[in-house]
Amino acid sequence: MNYLEFFHLQEDPFGLTPDSSYFYPSKMHNDVLASLDYAVNQKEGFSLVMGEPGTGKTTILKIFIDRWKEKAEIALILTPRLSPEELLQAVLDDLKINLETANKNEMIKAFRDFLIDRSLSGKRVIIVVDEAQNLSDPCLEELRLLSNLETDKEKLLQIILVGQPELQRRLRSEGLRQLDQRITIRAGLRPLTLEETSDYIAFRLIKAGKGSAIFDEQVKKDIYRLSDGIPRLVNLLTSRAMMVAYIGTAHHIRKKHVRDAAKHLSNTQAKIIPRRLIGYAVGGLLIASLIPVSIIMYQKFQDHKNTAGEIRSSAALKKNKPEHETRPEIQKEAFVTASAARLREKPSLQARIERVVENGERIFIIDEWTEISGRKWFKIKTVDGKESWIASYIVKVGSPR
Ligand SMILES: Nc1ncnc2c1ncn2[C@@H]1O[C@H](COP(=O)(O)OP(=O)(O)OP(=O)(O)O)[C@@H](O)[C@H]1O
Ligand SMILES: [Mg+2]
Repeated sequence: MNYLEFFHLQEDPFGLTPDSSYFYPSKMHNDVLASLDYAVNQKEGFSLVMGEPGTGKTTILKIFIDRWKEKAEIALILTPRLSPEELLQAVLDDLKINLETANKNEMIKAFRDFLIDRSLSGKRVIIVVDEAQNLSDPCLEELRLLSNLETDKEKLLQIILVGQPELQRRLRSEGLRQLDQRITIRAGLRPLTLEETSDYIAFRLIKAGKGSAIFDEQVKKDIYRLSDGIPRLVNLLTSRAMMVAYIGTAHHIRKKHVRDAAKHLSNTQAKIIPRRLIGYAVGGLLIASLIPVSIIMYQKFQDHKNTAGEIRSSAALKKNKPEHETRPEIQKEAFVTASAARLREKPSLQARIERVVENGERIFIIDEWTEISGRKWFKIKTVDGKESWIASYIVKVGSPR
């Protein structure tokens, strides 16, 4: 029985890819969306959305784009480390303004014609830049110049910059003051409060099929405290805690499951886990070393990919398609190196044996766990597509010899 079946869930409730179908509409999130709607409706020109990493900026953007994609032409820039010329080209490409020339004057002229044409047909044109803190000063200046494209009566272009708080600091600098003064709408995302975090966890579980996982208020409080209410960390911590509970065949998520999850995360996700969580995890480690409990640490390839990469494809975002659907599953070819090797239901010597395979059997590694004792397990697929777990010491990655 896999993790989802164990908890009677239809899908993973705490995925890390921004997904609009899991959008939790707190008052704060709704306020930010309302500000953006207002900015575009009123043709305000420049808007800015700011928030610390993992607070939901890209998620909000997905919702905003879904709302506006029929009524507006939207250029979405997800990789802002471009030169000003490349930025302009990326905007034209995304708006499907095809030009034979790379001459900047002609590009701007074509863009202006496009803006006037869309304005006549009542359509808004919006440039959205995610991760805008990565825009260079010349690119920000280029955007300011583009925003000058207006008629006597109205602004033809709406620009939404979404980024981390350092962007606001940069905008205050001498060179960017002119742009800063043009920003009429500013919205911010803060971490969730305790009540919101508790609601958020319940909301995502219900979306995923409700299931049989039980979280007491005290456990949710721990998750809040350790994650600082940052949704990405709430997801990481909650799904890890559920994974630890699953390994111990518990439906009730306890404090110790959260503690073990935090400890694992502080080992593998140190870059994104707040100091407080690391401190807690280290404390947990000390306690754990005094109590002879068998704690299993979980290493999932997926997390690293998700948190490091987030969304890379504007096409995937616009089509409201989670990135993981477009990404090939990691599979490493490997071979079994022992006779009568046991494939188990879970990464544990106590787990049920699902089948026994022979020396030389070809398998594909899709995931891995390491127990705190150091014993490592591979989650594998056999050639007939069935998934199970095998101890890593009887597996050879790569060719059979
Ligand atoms: N309102 C929300 N409803 C549901 N999930 C959310 C919400 N806000 C954030 N999340 C979840 O938290 C995680 C991080 O969100 P997101 O990627 O949008 O953050 P971000 O602010 O863009 O982070 P970064 O600055 O690193 O790009 C995602 O898994 C997302 O699904
Ligand atoms: Mg983001």
